[in-house]
Amino acid sequence: MRTALTIVGARPQFIKAAVVSRALRAQPGVREVLVHTGQHYDDNMSRVFFEELEIPEPDYHLGIGGGTHGQNTGRMLEALEEVLLQERPDWVLVYGDTDSTLAGALAAAKLHIPVAHVEAGLRSFNRRMPEEINRVLTDHVSDLLFAPTEVAVRNLLREGIPSEKIHLVGDVMYDAALYYGEKAERESQVLRRLGLVPKGYVLATLHRAENTDDPERLRVVLQALAQVNKEVPVVLPVHPRTRKRAEAFGLDHLLGEVLAIEPVGYLDMVMLEKNARVIATDSGGVQKEAFFHRVPCVTLREETEWVELVELGWNRLCPPRDPASIVDYLLHDWTGGEATPYGTGHAGSAIAAHLLPGLGGSGGEL
Ligand code: UD1
Ligand code: UDP
Repeated sequence: MRTALTIVGARPQFIKAAVVSRALRAQPGVREVLVHTGQHYDDNMSRVFFEELEIPEPDYHLGIGGGTHGQNTGRMLEALEEVLLQERPDWVLVYGDTDSTLAGALAAAKLHIPVAHVEAGLRSFNRRMPEEINRVLTDHVSDLLFAPTEVAVRNLLREGIPSEKIHLVGDVMYDAALYYGEKAERESQVLRRLGLVPKGYVLATLHRAENTDDPERLRVVLQALAQVNKEVPVVLPVHPRTRKRAEAFGLDHLLGEVLAIEPVGYLDMVMLEKNARVIATDSGGVQKEAFFHRVPCVTLREETEWVELVELGWNRLCPPRDPASIVDYLLHDWTGGEATPYGTGHAGSAIAAHLLPGLGGSGGEL
């Protein structure tokens, strides 16, 4: 019996891991041990995803969240080392670019346990982002790097990572959008619940440190959304970080000027995305999902890792400097070109095949 130990902790990681986990657990002779660091802990940031995406209960829940980067990463490192020593897995799987990703990769690498990084090679080239530090370090201690795009492969090669470690498998979030998209259509009642009509609203999400921790940028975004809401309803599922900062900066009254709701589960989110007229976000995952559903996206950042979307024309960068330019972007409709930069929706099984030689053949490359 081979053991793959998966480390997750934050909302987008539950979605990504659900895809790979399903593929792994379908293989005979494979045991998956699931570790939740606790980085995200509210029910609507964690439990709802396990339920909706049918992810098994974690085998370990470390309960580490809510601290600073150093506190979270350090405490996770210590606790994960203990779990790894106990389980002695054949592989450790980490996802994306959060503090849980870095702690997991580092704990495993120091114990000489092979690390597989799903969503490797993404770069913003902005080292002020905590995620950029997490990605670069994780990629450089990983043994297998699963890149979602050709751009990501090129980034890794440029940093001197040997090509035999890198596999272009496509984006697991595309698998998720396809697989759970149908379930969302059947089960989600969110449009009716919120009184929304298809293509009759703007969807927005916001949680990046650079936007939420800077009172001026947070004010600019919230004012822009409030202004747009006078013409088209703006639905804003509010990340807990954003709510806390808005309250601390005395900006929470602006949340009352849009349809601010609690974070929603994945199925409701998919429906909100599919039916939005346009999406405004600083999320990595939401930028891609907008494209999967062919909804134009305004990215409230200086740069994006998902440069294909900008090149295709579906995504427009709009750094939050003044409300007027955000309003302008959001009140105009546009579309982009066609291409399939994120694979075929089979990234999960390609990853499983690479992890388990002999089970899925040596295939898996796109
Ligand atoms: C983290 C990731 C970011 C990812 C995002 C996904 C890092 C450095 N950042 O950002 O890459 O895009 O998750 O959503 O790992 N909080 C709650 N309840 C929760 C979760 C968070 O109240 O369930 C609050 C806490 O006050 C916490 C703050 O949000 O301190 C920030 O949470 P944290 O996980 O550190 O960072 P995110 O902004 O969520
Ligand atoms: N998401 C969700 N509910 C929400 C907001 C986001 O299910 O209220 C999903 C979204 O569809 C995407 C993922 O969470 O799949 C993105 O996570 P997030 O924006 O928190 O992080 P990022 O992708 O920026 O790391």
